[in-house]
Amino acid sequence: MRVLVTGAAGFIGYHVAQALLARGIEVVGVDDLNPYYDVRLKQARLARLGAGFTFHHLNIAEHEAVMRLGDGVEVIVHVAAQAGVRYSLENPFAYATSNLTGHLSILELARHTPSVKHLIYASSSSVYGTGSTLPYAESERADRPSSLYAATKKADELMSASYTHLFGLKQTGLRFFTVYGPWGRPDMAYFSFAEAISAGQPVTIYEGGRLQRDFTYIDDIIAGILGVFDHPPTDATPHRLFNIGNNRAEYVTDLVRLLEEGLGRKAITVNRPKPEADPEKTCANVDALHGLCGYVPSTKLADGIPRFVEWYKQWQEVRETL
Ligand code: UGA
Repeated sequence: MRVLVTGAAGFIGYHVAQALLARGIEVVGVDDLNPYYDVRLKQARLARLGAGFTFHHLNIAEHEAVMRLGDGVEVIVHVAAQAGVRYSLENPFAYATSNLTGHLSILELARHTPSVKHLIYASSSSVYGTGSTLPYAESERADRPSSLYAATKKADELMSASYTHLFGLKQTGLRFFTVYGPWGRPDMAYFSFAEAISAGQPVTIYEGGRLQRDFTYIDDIIAGILGVFDHPPTDATPHRLFNIGNNRAEYVTDLVRLLEEGLGRKAITVNRPKPEADPEKTCANVDALHGLCGYVPSTKLADGIPRFVEWYKQWQEVRETL
């Protein structure tokens, strides 16, 4: 079996590719290796993907090149994106290119590749925006995004819905909730705070750390993605949307404390008001995914952050040699 993984050099894409390879599945990876964050980390992830993995260095917005990637592909796991909530205020066009044009390229590829039976794609908890009831259920309207990033992810869901309606494409959209762990994203709080604490630099904390996130550990995320992979859509429900979170909102103050404990250093904190784009709290209702495949996230922040810190300390040394 052959699976195309977009964003294979990214955090989630790399872990998905590794899990599929471990099952003996052939993985075709694509990534543009853009410099949004340390490219050494992206290259180091790729270097760990061994036998059964082939790689194409290209931007998924280049739709003519993307159309050449479908040979024999049965499933697409599309997790390439311009991520980050606040950066979408700084560089909005990066979101249009990767998340709108890029998503359309993948839809077109799936539409014109008869061997493709299932497209799994990344959405985001941020689609719940303002006015949704916690814990967020997939039945919420989710049409009041509080950032352009969220708006592009909601647009992806709508574009996908139209392709299922028009072409019968079988798809699953996954609304990821603040995913963290080893080989993670340096732009996210857990990673950038670890960098600042290690370097003795100040850490900006919004609202004194009283914001809450449904921090979800990467191993739980991978278990959920494999569950969706193993339970593809049926003709009755050809396009599905699932939350993939932890169902356990935790405070940013707890994140900082766990990092301090792991790194053995106190954080120097600077308190700031929350940016308009950031929700106060997120929390996923994961009943639907549980019903599909028995998904039960099991990693608390108190267990996941020490595992991240252990990896991070090794990475700090390795990257200096690259
Ligand atoms: C994260 C990812 O960055 C998005 O790509 C993803 O789509 C989103 O999760 C999601 O769940 O949909 P976010 O929850 O904002 O977005 O993650 P972080 O940037 O790691 O922030 C975590 C928490 O720390 C937030 O409450 C944020 O307000 C807070 N924070 C962040 C600070 O207090 N200070 C900072 O300097 C940065």
